[in-house]
This record gives sequence, structure tokens and C-alpha cells, in this order.
Amino acid sequence: MNVFNSVFNPSRVEGSMPVSGGGVSEDNKFSYGYSSLRGKRASMEDFHDTKISMIDGTMVGLFGVFDGHGGSRAADYVKQNLFKNLLEHPQFVSDTKLAIAETYKQTDQEYLKAENNQHRDAGSTASTAVLVGDRLLVANVGDSRAVICIAGKAIALSTDHKPNRTDERQRIEDAGGVVMWSGTWRVGGVLAVSRAFGDRLLKKYVVAEPEIQEETINSEVEFLLLASDGLWDVVSNQDAVTMVQNVQDAEEAAKRLTEEAYKKGSADNITCVVIRFHHSP
Ligand SMILES: *[C@@H]1O[C@H](CO)[C@@H](O)[C@H](O)[C@H]1NC(C)=O
Ligand SMILES: *[C@@H]1O[C@H](CO)[C@@H](O)[C@H](O)[C@H]1NC(C)=O
Repeated sequence: MNVFNSVFNPSRVEGSMPVSGGGVSEDNKFSYGYSSLRGKRASMEDFHDTKISMIDGTMVGLFGVFDGHGGSRAADYVKQNLFKNLLEHPQFVSDTKLAIAETYKQTDQEYLKAENNQHRDAGSTASTAVLVGDRLLVANVGDSRAVICIAGKAIALSTDHKPNRTDERQRIEDAGGVVMWSGTWRVGGVLAVSRAFGDRLLKKYVVAEPEIQEETINSEVEFLLLASDGLWDVVSNQDAVTMVQNVQDAEEAAKRLTEEAYKKGSADNITCVVIRFHHSP
């Protein structure tokens, strides 16, 4: 259970060169690529993680994009611990959805505990895709986003947690918080996402409870994209899908998305993950 065919641990990016990589699952059912670029701001706070493993005879793939704010500590912590905790959850195979929900919560609590003595508040989004055989579970906290391509069409598998989403605003107000305009809509006038890991001072409102969507990978599903808002702020879901459609190599596709976002002037750190499903004819 703890032996991974491939584990990527790219560290902080110091220049403005994109870092990229990729691989193929042992059973050749899917390939994946990632690309990360430091945006025009000061330091890289985007992280991602990939793990592929055979568990009880089933191919399991875990992919995530973690976009930090207020420093990189939370994103780094989530990257180091979320999938490790998930694979250790006793119901990971039998009730994957429950395992994901509980692991998000557990990881957030453990992060807050570990960070007890920090003065500054840091936080992170998480957009994760868990493949168990032909089942795909996408879980989301924050404004990174998962988009799937089915027969050429872009379908979002997550809905960004923005503070002005009607249901999110309601949830925050019910908990006694406020959503205020300050350049954009912000929780307490401070934070531009309504859910996140970390963010201790806003924890009553900014929860790490994921929304989870399920999809079956049938022959119509071409690929899945996970990316931070550095991409989605400047490239639409459908444009991203159209760009990737004819690029068979997943790493190359991830690089092109990152470069496109950069060219379009994204000021944010940009991280893209592409998972392409192989279907035998
Ligand atoms: C990218 O890095 C900058 C500078 O550290 C940070 O302020 C910003 O929040 C990051 N972008 C993200 C994580 O959205
Ligand atoms: C939230 O605010 C943004 C502008 O910051 C706007 O583009 C978007 O439509 C708003 N969403 C909702 C649900 O009101």
C-alpha cells in the first residue's frame, strides 16, 4: 500500500522557468503530466502531488493541485500529508467518498495543530482527483478547479468556493461572518476564497469541507484537467479543453496550458495537471 511507482516531489521554483514532468500508469490506462510556473508575484505557492499505486489489484491514481495564500506553509503541508493520510484511511477502498471527506477534515485539523505557534495565518486550496479503477472522485476546497473533457466538451467537476457564491455567503453569514467587497469579494474583507485548509483566524467560516463529485471513466471521457486559478482567471474551461484535445502527450499539454495562461498575463502562480485516459479501440 505504501509503495508507489512514481512519486513526484518538485520543490519550490526559484526562477520563472516552468517545472514539468509526467508518467504513465503501469496498466497503461492513463498518462499524466504537470507543469508549474511561478507567476509575476514574488514566490511560488502552488504545489501539486501525484501518486499511482496498485491496491488490492485495482489501479489507484491520486492527483492534486494545492494553491497557497499567505505563504507556502499550508500548501506545502497539504501536499506532504493529504494523500498519505488518505491512503491510510481504513475505508479508502470500501468507501472512498467518506474517506476523502474525513481525510480533508483530519488534515486541516492536524495542520492547524502543527502550526499553533505561527504568527501569520496561511491557507491553501485543494483540487484533487482520485481514480479507483474506472471510478473518478473529484474533491474541491477553494478556487482551484477540475474540468473533464467528454467527447470534446468541457464539463466542470467542481464549483469554485468564492465568498459571493449565494450558498457560500449564506453559510458564512449563518456562522456569524461577513462577506465584503475589497477589490473582490472577501470573507471578512480579507480572504478571496470561502473554503480552505488553514486560515485559523477565519476557520469558523473558511472550512476545509470538500464538495465531492463522482464520474465513471467510460470511453467518452478523454482527459481531466486540474489547475489553480492562475489558469482559470484567464482561460475558459472550454478553451483549455480545446487546447489540450489534440496534444496527446500529457506533459506537453500541461506545459501549453501554463504558457498560455502566462502569455495572457496571469499574475498568479500557475499549476496545471493533465490526466489523459487511454481507451483501447
Ligand atoms: C503566488 O505567489 C504569491 C507570492 O508569494 C502569493 O502572494 C500568491 O498568493 C500566490 N498565488 C496564489 C497562491 O494564488
Ligand atoms: C461574484 O463576484 C464576481 C466579481 O468579483 C462576479 O464576476 C461573479 O459573477 C459573482 N458571482 C456571484 C454568484 O454572484
